[in-house]
Amino acid sequence: SLQGFDHYMLKEIYEQPEALRNAMRGRLDEENATAVFGGLNLTPQQLRSVERIILTGCGTSWHSALVGEYLIEELARIPVSVEYASELRYRNPPIENNTLVFGITQSGETADTLAALRETKRKGHRTLAICNVVGSSIAQAADGGVYLHAGPEIGVASTKAYTSQCCILTMLALYFGRLRHLSYEGGQRIIQELYGIPGAVQEALNCNERVKEVANKYQDATNVLYLGRQYNFPTALEGALKLKEISYIHAEGYPAAEMKHGPIALVDTKTPSVFIVPQGSTYDKVMANMEEVKARGGPIIAVATKEDPMVDAVADDVIRIPDVPSILQPIVSVVPLQLLSYHFALLRGCDVDKPRNLAKSVTVE
Ligand code: F6R
Repeated sequence: SLQGFDHYMLKEIYEQPEALRNAMRGRLDEENATAVFGGLNLTPQQLRSVERIILTGCGTSWHSALVGEYLIEELARIPVSVEYASELRYRNPPIENNTLVFGITQSGETADTLAALRETKRKGHRTLAICNVVGSSIAQAADGGVYLHAGPEIGVASTKAYTSQCCILTMLALYFGRLRHLSYEGGQRIIQELYGIPGAVQEALNCNERVKEVANKYQDATNVLYLGRQYNFPTALEGALKLKEISYIHAEGYPAAEMKHGPIALVDTKTPSVFIVPQGSTYDKVMANMEEVKARGGPIIAVATKEDPMVDAVADDVIRIPDVPSILQPIVSVVPLQLLSYHFALLRGCDVDKPRNLAKSVTVE
């Protein structure tokens, strides 16, 4: 039931703090400063010998794979490739021994993800699923896996499954990191930071009224750019996808600096750019990109950390999120973008929970 919410999408956006707690429950081992997973079906020796990881999925799940790439490479120093499942299944790339393949999927029924996993398994590689729906086809086809425990996701737009996927991938990166180079103190610190994430998402949800105002102001836009870097580059892609699918407004997500190589030609006074610009390593660089858009007359909506006068001075509208470490920013920074697409869609009279031409699970290729 909707439990007082107008739409499942909104309800599921608000369920994220709880979904994240459920994703973490029983999986953080403070004593050993690592994560624990019951269903990987691989020995520590087998996991220790993994030399490459492939993350595959479709749509929003592919975006969480991009977050996973950054996380696993940084924390575990294992090379990661991210593949669209629809491409991987027919591309026949060379895959080295000791490669672990993760299929990431909310529904566990996406035809291309299932086929990509089956094909890599057939070739003798270990396959695991990161999946929400228990007992689904992909969960069954894989050699093992990790469930999100996010609860049913009914809205067609994936919201709580995405942030839960990012959370699971953070814990997997912690786990693989602790099998390798990540120190005890490093692992401890990440665990403590993870404990703070449901609360940070709760706080990010407080931006709802502000986001509503922003959607109101820009509701006639026909094009929107989403720009972010590093851990917030996938957030830009995900924000753009959410806007397209729910409100039918054309949007593009880019790594902010790529904008200069073409998309900046789209910037005009009617094309807002959403900059994801929390404090962190590339903050100054993203600010520079923001100035470039401003100089060309493009309206700027910034998703920024609390108390950031530099952003206030440049952006037309600022949406505030709590400050969290870079590796955890994807989970928090996507929240206002989910809400933004929701409010745009409402203002434009779109059917939020059942957008046109889309199905909750894509069981045909
Ligand atoms: C976007 C969305 C889709 C799905 C994609 C994969 O909001 O819902 O892009 O993410 O169809 O679905 P799953 O994760 O079920 O494999």
